[in-house]
Amino acid sequence: MGVLLIMVVKGNAVDKLDYNGIDCARIPEHIAIIMDGNGRWARKRHRPRPYGHRAGMEALRRIIEVCADLGVRILTVYAFSTENWKRPSEEVNFLMNLLVEYVNRELGALQDKNVRIRVLGMVEQLEPRIQQEIKRATRVTAENTGLVLNIALNYGGRAEIIEAARRAATLVSQGELTVDGIDEGTFSRLLFTEGLPDPDLLIRTAGEMRVSNFLLWQIAYTELWVTEVLWPDFSKDDLIRAIIDYQKRERRFGAIDVGKGR
Ligand code: FPP
Repeated sequence: MGVLLIMVVKGNAVDKLDYNGIDCARIPEHIAIIMDGNGRWARKRHRPRPYGHRAGMEALRRIIEVCADLGVRILTVYAFSTENWKRPSEEVNFLMNLLVEYVNRELGALQDKNVRIRVLGMVEQLEPRIQQEIKRATRVTAENTGLVLNIALNYGGRAEIIEAARRAATLVSQGELTVDGIDEGTFSRLLFTEGLPDPDLLIRTAGEMRVSNFLLWQIAYTELWVTEVLWPDFSKDDLIRAIIDYQKRERRFGAIDVGKGR
């Protein structure tokens, strides 16, 4: 087992990022995160919910940095679900504005980190100004070759599958695909995550034991890791704990472990 120790030089300061205990040969290629608990975090501090979302944005910034340093290839975060429209309009507006603020504030840093931004979801249903920001962020970072940051926005797993089924049906009606040609491979390529491998590890913060319509197709064999930690408190150490735990698991993808005969 190799041990990863990374030195990051920032100006004159040297931050030692100690990833002791992680097997650097088995870093999960794709990590997905349900960033839950912003509201509870704010409530505990007798502050309004937006305060928690803003702290959640800071947590995201930190975790992106750690993922990029660790060599995680893809990070997919659930920022706004198709169900989140049911929240009060002030909260919905706040979350949308936070995304714009995030792009404005972080685009330079993400560029420096070689991060490529993609957005998963029904983008065409969002306000034009939000769509513009998304286009700008994806265009500016399109050539980056480091971490792929998928922001799931106006995303729902069932809606994604229905959309893919419609696209498959359209291709069949146009004679570009046969019914027998619809298999797992072709269907996967019609999803928002087209071209990306499925998540290896799904982290959910704030303790809820459910998947909440996130990446329903893609998490068929994903390892789940749930923590009571609320998203704004989620730290580098928590991420490392999740990865070390993941590395102890035996992934069989429905097969048996031939060596153990079970
Ligand atoms: C769930 O917490 C969180 C969300 C619905 C929003 C996630 C958004 C962020 C982390 C902000 C940063 C993201 C970007 C892309 C700028 P909750 O509000 O459901 O918390 P609760 O369950 O404790 O009420």
